[in-house]
Amino acid sequence: MSDFPLLVANLKANKSWDEMSAWIEEVGKNAQGYPGTIVVCPTLPFLSAAKQKIDQEGLKITLGSQDVSAFEAGPYTGEVAASQIVGLCEYAIVGHSERRGNFKEDEDTLEKKVKNTLAAGLKPIYCVPDENSPIPEGTGIVAFEPIAAIGTGEPDSPQNAQRVASVIKSNGQHTVIYGGSVNAQNARAFLKEDIIDGLLVGTDSLESAKFIAIIEAISL
Ligand code: PGA
Repeated sequence: MSDFPLLVANLKANKSWDEMSAWIEEVGKNAQGYPGTIVVCPTLPFLSAAKQKIDQEGLKITLGSQDVSAFEAGPYTGEVAASQIVGLCEYAIVGHSERRGNFKEDEDTLEKKVKNTLAAGLKPIYCVPDENSPIPEGTGIVAFEPIAAIGTGEPDSPQNAQRVASVIKSNGQHTVIYGGSVNAQNARAFLKEDIIDGLLVGTDSLESAKFIAIIEAISL
């Protein structure tokens, strides 16, 4: 896979634009030699300015959104339709556990989100808590994110994450990444054995130095 390792930074609802801009600059400097694809998912209003900055400076960073609407463009106040962010980003996280939990997104809603994401020409990164969670048709990238590992500092074991990734891969043609308390010390272990194709990082993506340390750890 040419994207390998796919490294996704999910910045969640963090950072001002000035902080984001500095982050892009610092990470961008350290991304040039990265063998895979680095995807940064900032808060939605920063996608446009982030894209401009990345293009102007010729950085090897790709953008993703943290979510898309289950609705297509139209009278849906406060929503952002997938078709509106095409051209600003290439990827869209769908079904993150924080969306499923805090915003009560169910399988039906998530299926619509994936459908709209694909129809718009974006690549969904579909988050699942375990190997039994349904995966909507057409999903290429699946992020295995065990709930107990998200934001807790207690990652899954690489062995279990690889086992789950194998099950997901045996059920369909998927790229599988792992997320949940990934840091510079444990990142490499998840990618060993060539079963897991990348990583999704929350907490340790926020400080550019920590994220750069992850880039370095998995570039070796
Ligand atoms: P974490 O978050 O790295 O802080 O565990 C991962 C995620 O939310 O995807």
